Amino acid sequence: MLWYPYTQMRQISELPKMVSGEGVIMHLEDGRSLIDGISSWWAVIHGYNHPALNAALLTQANKFAHVMLGGMTHNPAIDLAAKLVSITPEGLNHVFFSDSGSIGVEVALKMSIQYWKNIGYHGKSKIISLRNGYHGDTFKAMEVSDDSDFTRAFSDVLRRGFILDIPEGGFDADAAVVKVATDKLEALLQREHQNIAAFIVEPIVQCAGGFNIYSPLYLKMARELCTKYNVLFVFDEVATGFGRTGKLFAAEHADVTPDIMILGKALTAGYMGHAATLATSAVFDSFLGDNYEKALMHGPTFMANPLACAVALQSISIIEEERYLRKIEKIQSIIREQFDTFTSPAIVAKRSIGAIGALEMKDVACLSGFREFSQQHGVWLRPIGNVLYLMPPYIISEKELLTILQVMRDWVQQIK
Ligand SMILES: Cc1ncc(COP(=O)(O)O)c(C=O)c1O
Repeated sequence: MLWYPYTQMRQISELPKMVSGEGVIMHLEDGRSLIDGISSWWAVIHGYNHPALNAALLTQANKFAHVMLGGMTHNPAIDLAAKLVSITPEGLNHVFFSDSGSIGVEVALKMSIQYWKNIGYHGKSKIISLRNGYHGDTFKAMEVSDDSDFTRAFSDVLRRGFILDIPEGGFDADAAVVKVATDKLEALLQREHQNIAAFIVEPIVQCAGGFNIYSPLYLKMARELCTKYNVLFVFDEVATGFGRTGKLFAAEHADVTPDIMILGKALTAGYMGHAATLATSAVFDSFLGDNYEKALMHGPTFMANPLACAVALQSISIIEEERYLRKIEKIQSIIREQFDTFTSPAIVAKRSIGAIGALEMKDVACLSGFREFSQQHGVWLRPIGNVLYLMPPYIISEKELLTILQVMRDWVQQIK
């Protein structure tokens, strides 16, 4: 029997069964069709069954579907690495592939910890992360994620580092408000820097932790502090990368280069799992030496899978050629316009940026029954806790987007 994720299997009810997809539409076995409002966990940015992505996949499959990257190389991997270096913030020059976002985070943390050893510092092994952060489900990724239903069962085995709060005030917070948060960061760094390898953040938006948006100024100031106190700054852009926040990468809002950046999800447009961990030359160079002691001893079987690389290259071309950032800007303005018309007292906060819109509700009970309601109205949405959100594929039409927003409005407006 199939074991589903994040599910109490005893309570599982009959699930909608998808049989085909076209654009943003998921066709179900029972004849219904749903508009995908969350891009299948934020990955399917071009929608389903995209002709150019299908063609890229088939062309590569007809050559070879997979080859190990140990002791062998191939053009899809070389070309994708070069492309990622050219589109990410200046200075991220080296690309290590892996098979999922969580593993990409593991690689980033291994790089961070080993980096300091490689250059002769000892004892720098703890990680700072942010409250409400989420970085994946593997052990080290859980360690740097906030305590939640996702990590609770393992709290006795997780070696926690340090947790800080994001600044209050959202994207446009006052400098004085941001300073409250960076002062806390500086105090921690001053006290503990000799024990700390890295500070990992989801830049600008914490997604799974409730779609909390914070100021780019925090990232700018944190960048300076990390450099000052000899701590690597790591951006987990698994959710925010490839346009989701309105810039190609969230780092661009702050105009900073992290030491390490992780990409996943939309990297392969939802066609298969893959991730990339990018590092600066300073990080990469520390792994150079005459023996294995300094090398990065990591190598997932499917790293740089040629099908994944071919689809990723095609996906990035589409983003560039079809000027997706404009589409995302339009999505942002429609979400904002529509959210302004939502007046329910059950809404505690409305947050939006790029192709993300989130409504924080008074409590989880406000969303009880929402999934059935939205499906009855032809829309696929899946709230996280007390947050009702949309993260649609970028190819969504205005009409389809308005349908999703109408369903959200109808639901929240009827809550007493
Ligand atoms: C910011 C962030 N990092 C890492 C991950 C883990 O990615 P994956 O589910 O591909 O392991 C996620 C997944 O939601 C994420 O949002």
